[in-house]
Amino acid sequence: MRCSFLVLVSAFVLALACVPGSQRDVKFQQYYAEGEVLYRQHCANCHQQDGTGLGKLFPPLAKSDYMDKNRDAVICLMKYGIKGEVVVNGVSYNHEMKGITALTDLEIAEITTYIYNSWGNEGEWVDVNQATKVLSACKAE
Ligand code: HEC
Repeated sequence: MRCSFLVLVSAFVLALACVPGSQRDVKFQQYYAEGEVLYRQHCANCHQQDGTGLGKLFPPLAKSDYMDKNRDAVICLMKYGIKGEVVVNGVSYNHEMKGITALTDLEIAEITTYIYNSWGNEGEWVDVNQATKVLSACKAE
């Protein structure tokens, strides 16, 4: 009797501990799935579907050390573009990438979540509030 009560209590505690986690997972999955669609639409023609880039023209996103070190700049460059020299994994690139101004803050958060969690990249996920905060800071520059 006492034992089954303990089992019940621990099941309840376990369930409580899991709820916030699973809601977070659902949201992450939504961002990731949307991000993948948007990536194919807006980015894959240059950076390729598998994120490996293209020769000396387009830098890779898969395992990019630039992405590791510059998360906020990556959020900004999707919208506002980037030019000048960029070094990714020891290789120098120097071609302009134009910003895609039509992307909304939510879409940028979704793409960020997708590219930081694909092709062996293991990053956090970025929600729309974080993206808005970063984007309003880069607008001011
Ligand atoms: C027309 C081709 C093109 C498209 C489309 C494009 N990029 Fe780029 N991207 C580039 C080029 C070229 C660079 C290097 C810029 C430089 O040399 O200054 C770059 C650089 C980057 C970098 C920084 C370097 C790295 O590899 O870590 C990231 C991150 C990035 N792009 C992500 C994206 C994402 C996400 C999208 C879609 C929203 C996108 N790009 C769309 C061409 C493109």
